[in-house]
Amino acid sequence: MSANTIEHNRQRFDFEGVEAIWLFGYGSLIYKVDFPYLEKRPAAIQGWVRRFWQASHDHRGTPEAPGRVVTLVKQPGATCRGMAYRVSPDVFEHLDVREKNGYLRFKTPMTFDDSSQAEGLVYIATEDNEAFLGDAPATDIARQIASAHGPSGPNSEYLLNLASSLRELGAECEHTFAIEACLPREA
Ligand code: SIN
Repeated sequence: MSANTIEHNRQRFDFEGVEAIWLFGYGSLIYKVDFPYLEKRPAAIQGWVRRFWQASHDHRGTPEAPGRVVTLVKQPGATCRGMAYRVSPDVFEHLDVREKNGYLRFKTPMTFDDSSQAEGLVYIATEDNEAFLGDAPATDIARQIASAHGPSGPNSEYLLNLASSLRELGAECEHTFAIEACLPREA
């Protein structure tokens, strides 16, 4: 059920001698910043799109009724905007637990708003992880999100927080905004 990636991520990079590293966030990492950081800058990565294609069994849903959260899917020519944080490597002890349901850390180049670039890390849940759900019509995704709740709160809160923080960032994400528009609202 749970594609626990904690051990896998711990062995993925040797942070020996590294004092700080950039982390690119494109989902809840934009608006739920429960970790210390040294610097924070809007940034973008190339060749990826944000998609609500990953199940959440541990935060915004349960094993019996999973929610849907975002991952990145390759799309040549696409740009994904998000928020980058310069963090101390020990922050990953916490983040690997938070992102344990299928996400692995990958190296990525990122571009800041002043066109300068840096290399850093990004959590991606690839399609071979057990919690990967894949595509579905926006109305179906919205319905699943509307009914799912988990230890971190309602899945709808994840979607609405993400949509409003993307607007604040000036990030166009048709996929997220289409699902938001389909979300059944409480009367
Ligand atoms: C991220 O925000 O960068 C990863 C996905 C998530 O935690 O929502």
